Amino acid sequence: MVTLDGLTDNTPAEVPMTVSPPDRPGRHNLDPHVTRYAARTAGMTASEIRALFAVASRPEVVSLAGGMPNLAALPLDSLSTQIADLIAEDGLVALQYGSAHGIPLLREQICEIMALEGISAHPDDVVVTVGSQMGLDMVTRLFCDPGDVVLAEGPSYVGALGSFAAYQAQVIHVAMDDEGLQPEALREALAQVAKAGKRVKFLYTIPNFHNPAGVTLAASRRPEILEICRSHGVLVVEDNPYGLLGFEGQTYPALRSTDPDNVVYLGSFSKTFASGLRVGWVLAPHAVREKLVLAAESATLCPPTLNQLIVSRYLSTHDWKGQIKTFRENYRERRDAITSALEQYMPAGCSWTNPDGGFYVWVTVPEGVDTKAMLPRAVTARVAYASGTGFYADGFGSRQMRLSYCYPTPERIKEGVRRLAAVLEAEMDLVRTFGNVSMRPISGPETPSPDTA
Ligand SMILES: Cc1ncc(COP(=O)(O)O)c(C=O)c1O
Repeated sequence: MVTLDGLTDNTPAEVPMTVSPPDRPGRHNLDPHVTRYAARTAGMTASEIRALFAVASRPEVVSLAGGMPNLAALPLDSLSTQIADLIAEDGLVALQYGSAHGIPLLREQICEIMALEGISAHPDDVVVTVGSQMGLDMVTRLFCDPGDVVLAEGPSYVGALGSFAAYQAQVIHVAMDDEGLQPEALREALAQVAKAGKRVKFLYTIPNFHNPAGVTLAASRRPEILEICRSHGVLVVEDNPYGLLGFEGQTYPALRSTDPDNVVYLGSFSKTFASGLRVGWVLAPHAVREKLVLAAESATLCPPTLNQLIVSRYLSTHDWKGQIKTFRENYRERRDAITSALEQYMPAGCSWTNPDGGFYVWVTVPEGVDTKAMLPRAVTARVAYASGTGFYADGFGSRQMRLSYCYPTPERIKEGVRRLAAVLEAEMDLVRTFGNVSMRPISGPETPSPDTA
């Protein structure tokens, strides 16, 4: 079963959703299948936030937790006509199996899109996937044996951490600053892994408008990061779903554009068109592409033909660049709303990143406040966020939180931040009076979910 946050949920359907997964001590007797699960399921932990989200998704709660794209600007009328036409004209193809590689025309169109970020690619080297999440899963499946090391920014995308855990890879986080991944920290991480006698399989990085950190890798750092990876024999997995959502229309040169042999690139239509169609892609070095097609075949036989045709037709008949511009403007308005509300309301001692594209702001709160412990109290105060711990594989992040501004209206965003600031003030009062709030026995949710895509 796949949960809404894209993570595999191993809980059997007949067991209530609130039951913890099999790796939680003391709960095993609730799951009759516990002795049957493969060892790798130990890394698959269901999100405990589900119960909380039942409350958080009530209309009175402002959710700054989820990363759902704001699709309201899509031209639904013309899309529905087009989809109907597609089935009328080409239904026997659209509703049939296709190739695991993906539809050739769509792969050509994907190459044109990637050219906007400097990538020159052959459509043969593109594999269409069921969202870039499937690309992440396949790449991890292809490269990682249990215990292999994956380097990832700290913090990193929760769905990627889920895939790495599912294949029992060990994640080592590499520090970022306002200019993204730090080359020096990457060198140190590589040295540390080498000293431990382990093998790094790849660096997983989100260079543009990072989820969750909201920062972008400086163009000047990109060649250095590539050079470090190349000289250490480490593959780069570049995940770039937000690259065309720069608020000033700016784009950055893709890592793949200058190092085609050592970068696997993941792309997606989820943020620039429609996430529900689940169409993404992997652009891989030629040899890797063969293996990816085989892995894709064994996972899904083929990506959905109808959805690929919908995307392809949309690209050839709509002003898709104009649509992306509209999305960008909507998100920029929301980014402005959240940053000015943070300035206005947040207590002294808090800091946050200043995104120039994408969906997210990463907030750091004062020492002693534990964002995971605070979350149930925030939801009670009718605001939700994603606690920072879900974005680290090593338990870090309790002083951080991710705020998503992509979905609520600017007015709701402002109100949400006002409520959050009040909760934070109260929490800081407690810390001043009683010391570290995280020491109090309050159990909070583990990973941000279910709509944290
Ligand atoms: C960084 C990152 N990678 C991958 C994905 C998955 O996207 P898709 O909908 O294409 O599977 C997301 C979704 O939020 C994301 O933020």
